[in-house]
Amino acid sequence: MNLSLINKINKLKKEKNAVILVHNYQRPEIYKVADFIGDSIELCRAAAKTDADIIVFCGVDFMAESAKILNPEKKVLIPVRGAECPMAEMVKKRDLLDLKKHYPNATVVSYVNTRAETKAESDICCTSANAVEVVNSLPQKEIIFVPDENLANYVQTKTDKKIIPWKGFCYVHAKITPGQVKEAKRLHLDAKVLVHPECRLDVIELGDYVCSTSQMLYRAREDPARKFIIVTEQGMVERLKLEIPDKKFYAIVATCVQMKKNSLPLVLKSLQKEIYPVNLDEEIVRKARIALDKMLKVFYKHD
Ligand code: 13P
Ligand code: SF4
Repeated sequence: MNLSLINKINKLKKEKNAVILVHNYQRPEIYKVADFIGDSIELCRAAAKTDADIIVFCGVDFMAESAKILNPEKKVLIPVRGAECPMAEMVKKRDLLDLKKHYPNATVVSYVNTRAETKAESDICCTSANAVEVVNSLPQKEIIFVPDENLANYVQTKTDKKIIPWKGFCYVHAKITPGQVKEAKRLHLDAKVLVHPECRLDVIELGDYVCSTSQMLYRAREDPARKFIIVTEQGMVERLKLEIPDKKFYAIVATCVQMKKNSLPLVLKSLQKEIYPVNLDEEIVRKARIALDKMLKVFYKHD
């Protein structure tokens, strides 16, 4: 059943000159039709350089929007309605305009987990892989950082600048407690701990490494340890098992419902009917692209 779906998707992909970009948290069945699997910044880079006519984006809405901002002339499709990252909805354009009035000397760093209209009011974007490097690349001393307060707090530990955080959060990462990580460490004494920076600071402090999702993959490949506790959305463990089958990975229970809405039948339908296209206002795209392009120029170490 899956095999015939996969064959149909691959055939249509060729016929329509389409690519399928897939976030690490997607179900493993979606990996099977991916042209590229990665974290937010890798997916931005893949979207920026593709010469396909259609991009099918398997992830959440802000990721598909970023692909559209970087490719306004292409058709960008998201196979499922309602795959909205709740954190991206936590800061609105008007909130940001109020903050900018309050801190007129501050520069605005928007996490990519924001809507296009928020990016359009920002000076630069960042992802979990490069947030520290982006902030430290700026000449200003005061930084408005939206929407993730946990990521802002983590960045504050790595910079002398004054970070002005917004009170947004990821419901998946914010629920992970130090107790859960300590228990996993007790059960797997010789495991290294890889933590996503959307976690609370008291959880981050328990990690051996703080990593974006793809940085977890590169770190686990390079590190001599054989076992790893993965402190992020649990789907990441599926990617790690697939890529590094000879090491052991232990997940903390944490599920992003929005990331799991997608399925192979929906991807096929998306390609067949060319649904659901991402449509953005031209002026928003123009302004948001400046912030995304600036981010893509900042050097950061991937693993
Ligand atoms: P990454 O960029 O690390 O993949 O993170 C995206 C995300 O939404 C994490 O919750
Ligand atoms: Fe958004 Fe959190 Fe889901 Fe990532 S894991 S897409 S930040 S809700």
